[in-house]
Amino acid sequence: MSSPECIPSFEDIDIRDLSYQINDKVILQHVNFNLSKGDVLEIRGKSGAGKSTLANILAKRLPYDGQILISGTELQQISKKAYNARMLYLPQKPLIIESTLLDNILMGMPYQAERMEQALFCSLLQDVIECMPDGLQTLVSAKSLSSGETQRVCLCRAVYHARDILIFDEMLSAVDSDAKREIAARLCKFSKETNRIMICISHDEFFHEYATQTLNLKKVIV
Ligand SMILES: Nc1ncnc2c1ncn2[C@@H]1O[C@H](COP(=O)(O)OP(=O)(O)OP(=O)(O)O)[C@@H](O)[C@H]1O
Ligand SMILES: [Mg+2]
Repeated sequence: MSSPECIPSFEDIDIRDLSYQINDKVILQHVNFNLSKGDVLEIRGKSGAGKSTLANILAKRLPYDGQILISGTELQQISKKAYNARMLYLPQKPLIIESTLLDNILMGMPYQAERMEQALFCSLLQDVIECMPDGLQTLVSAKSLSSGETQRVCLCRAVYHARDILIFDEMLSAVDSDAKREIAARLCKFSKETNRIMICISHDEFFHEYATQTLNLKKVIV
């Protein structure tokens, strides 16, 4: 079958009997869930339970057994390019480029004031920018930002580039509790109001009150 170059309309994600193993080690087994526009899924589970593996699979970065249906089309039949136009994945260790804060948010996209305002609001990045000598024009690198600042910059970038499907792997793990609570609230509100699907891997409670579904992953014992 040919790979569609675009997904004409986006409605839901249907995960059916998803399993994954590597070198005979079973990491995920019989995972099922269905998400519609406006849903927020929190993925929980102990370290090593397979959360990042599942995020990588949903981001089309790993093979799998079972089905992932994106608005009824099997993910394997959708080209990477077409899927990336709909899906944004923020990994556990996100990337900072050696350039200005602004470049780190835009990453080549044109500047739009309203979009930027929304992204800064959701990521609470304004507080960080106000402490920088040249605001958004401040030069940064992976070494010059703290882990929490790095996460907020990358989250701001993710909201600025927002797609229909947002996958966040522990993107607030290094942020302090007060900021984390506020960012989780703003981010979930944004995702629901703009009819996206948000998938958040998190070790703490901050997404729980806004999540429409919770998936508890347990280490597979064979
Ligand atoms: N390429 C690989 N080769 C072998 N084992 C792997 C590979 N990738 C992941 N694993 C194993 O799969 C299991 C799940 O890993 P994963 O990174 O998905 O866990 P996690 O739930 O995200 O954990 P954490 O909360 O620590 O981030 C772990 O036991 C890990 O060692
Ligand atoms: Mg992980």
